[in-house]
Amino acid sequence: MTSRWWMVAASLTLLAACSAAPGRPAKGSEALAPNEVVEFQALYAANCAGCHGRQARGGAAIGLADPVYLAITDDASIRKVTADGVRGTAMPAFAQSAGGMLTDAQIDVITSGIRSWGRPGALGGANPPPRVATSAGDARRGAEAFGTYCASCHGAHGEGGPKGSAIVSDSFLALVSDQGLRTVIIAGRADLGAPGWRAYLPGRPMSDQEVTDVVAWLASQRVPTPGQPYATPSAAPPRSASNDAAR
Ligand code: HEC
Ligand code: HEC
Repeated sequence: MTSRWWMVAASLTLLAACSAAPGRPAKGSEALAPNEVVEFQALYAANCAGCHGRQARGGAAIGLADPVYLAITDDASIRKVTADGVRGTAMPAFAQSAGGMLTDAQIDVITSGIRSWGRPGALGGANPPPRVATSAGDARRGAEAFGTYCASCHGAHGEGGPKGSAIVSDSFLALVSDQGLRTVIIAGRADLGAPGWRAYLPGRPMSDQEVTDVVAWLASQRVPTPGQPYATPSAAPPRSASNDAAR
């Protein structure tokens, strides 16, 4: 009897050994083609983490796991921005239909993955302004609201101060969309120490209209030729012969 069991055990061991025979790829070791990857973490790490942060808490761009951002966004907007990018900014278009590398199925996975980070009640009942502006902005009123909510850190005219950088710099404004400004003003950048809509002034959250007006004021500071500090060619420094030779 015992020897019969022995034989069974031995043949099972042999069988197991065979499936790990040299040359046979181990289970799960086959590399997927890039367009076959449908695992959210892998897609996020490969495509988004570089700018939005490895933990999605922010980097060059806003943290997509930010609770305020998650409270004001929706599937349609995440999907659209991911697919089509944001023209004129560093946010690339990822959909194959827009020249990117990701399939529609992969963009669906990313969209629901990002949404799954959200938690109902994460804002403790607070009601942030909507992600998308609901009315036209007024730059003049925006300048006033900027003085009220922003100047203490970013300087009276947004030129920068001890507690916040210059946000009317021509290069900064040239590289960010109005929606990008609005999202950051509402959500803040917890990773950089930038407060959100309810924390600029104690006990006085910004209203939808105030956010809209501040964005209008910031947008009105954009210049037609960003990155070109010289108003006239004659004001530019003389080009040296060695510079020309290097071209
Ligand atoms: C090269 C940098 C870069 C990469 C890579 C990148 N993003 Fe972005 N993303 C940005 C920037 C910059 C913005 C803000 C654009 C603006 O000014 O509106 C942005 C904005 C967004 C927004 C809109 C936020 C809002 O205002 O509502 C979403 C959603 C988003 N990105 C998702 C993604 C996803 C998903 C990926 C990966 C598939 C990704 N991004 C990869 C730079 C990047
Ligand atoms: C308590 C100080 C403080 C106040 C008040 C404040 N900010 Fe900021 N803000 C910061 C800090 C800190 C950062 C991140 C570091 C930096 O860029 O200076 C920042 C960053 C930003 C950025 C750049 C974010 C990015 O993506 O790089 C924008 C735009 C901005 N603030 C707009 C505003 C506006 C508009 C207001 C008023 C509604 C405001 N801030 C009020 C401290 C403040």
